[in-house]
Amino acid sequence: MLQDSLGRRFFYLRLSVTDVCNFKCSYCLPDGYQGKPDESFLTANELESAARGFAAMGTKKIRLTGGEPSIRKDFNEILSRIGGIPGIETLAVTTNGYRLPQRVASWAKAGLNQLNVSIDSFDAAEFHRITGHNRLEEVLEGVREAKSLGLKVKVNSVLMRGVNDDLDATLNWLKTNPVTLRFIEVMETADQQVFFRQYHLSGESIRTRLLQQGWQPIIRGVAAGPAQEFWHPDYAGRIGLIMPYSKDFCASCNRLRISSLGKLHLCLFSEQGIDVRPYLQDGVATEELVQAVTHHLSGKVAGHRLVDHESGGTANLSQIGG
Ligand code: GTP
Ligand code: 5AD
Ligand code: SF4
Repeated sequence: MLQDSLGRRFFYLRLSVTDVCNFKCSYCLPDGYQGKPDESFLTANELESAARGFAAMGTKKIRLTGGEPSIRKDFNEILSRIGGIPGIETLAVTTNGYRLPQRVASWAKAGLNQLNVSIDSFDAAEFHRITGHNRLEEVLEGVREAKSLGLKVKVNSVLMRGVNDDLDATLNWLKTNPVTLRFIEVMETADQQVFFRQYHLSGESIRTRLLQQGWQPIIRGVAAGPAQEFWHPDYAGRIGLIMPYSKDFCASCNRLRISSLGKLHLCLFSEQGIDVRPYLQDGVATEELVQAVTHHLSGKVAGHRLVDHESGGTANLSQIGG
């Protein structure tokens, strides 16, 4: 199992398959950048070889991200190739939910177990304003379909001050839907300092609101992700809070990232990544990838530098898969 000098173990790989997205979420793409469709993203072969290499290093969970991963024409093939690798117990996808009702059954058939869907507002008009698409109903239908197929489903909502911080519609949905919904504190990327200053809402203020409304914190498991979770006796769903600016957030870091162009990132922020694409080619021994990853990982630092407003090389999260 991959481990860093601080004893953090990395059994989870986020593999980005494209940086192109068909939605225009303001916090992610403040300048409207929607990726370069003609870029030469990792091929299905290279993605499979990355997944096999990481499985050999003890990776048990792989999440396909983007951009919007389902934009790839060979997305189902990628899923089934990775889903078939011994050692990969969980195959997950993070999606904006575009055409989800039509697509999710084929993903489940190809080996998908977990699905995270971005829904930044449960008010149709606001969803439209944030994403540029009038598709809330379609996305919700996709969530229902995914649940009925037996997939583990989570919803992600990035909160913006004065935009979608009236949580009534969201909480109402959670009353009857047994889904974990994570509120994510907006993170400052290199291209959105002005946006950040205007819209950043502290996770701590949401936490206070939840506690006042009777939500109760759940003790975190050792293998838990970045979210602090809450439950409420009157609600079928749970709430998670992802607060990257909180103290010790990175102490539970358990993930590594490979960008759609084949760079290994030890963190979302303040780090350029190393090119591992050469190690994903046919005929190159897995051992070369293992050595490069192990060597790079030894330099992983304790935290990110978000608190110093230093977002480094990360222009927007779609570039390294969020
Ligand atoms: P699970 O595997 O279900 O726990 O989901 P996940 O949180 O690992 O994946 P997901 O793609 O749903 O993550 C949603 C968003 O949470 C990401 O796009 C980031 O905005 C944020 N996030 C997830 N992991 C990290 C992390 O390690 N650091 C920071 N700063 N943010 C993260
Ligand atoms: N801050 C927080 N989360 C972000 N995402 C993208 N950009 C940001 C940002 N600046 C995340 C959201 C969304 C996922 C696809 O990417 O979690 O659900
Ligand atoms: Fe890990 Fe970086 Fe996320 Fe911190 S911000 S939890 S170090 S990926």
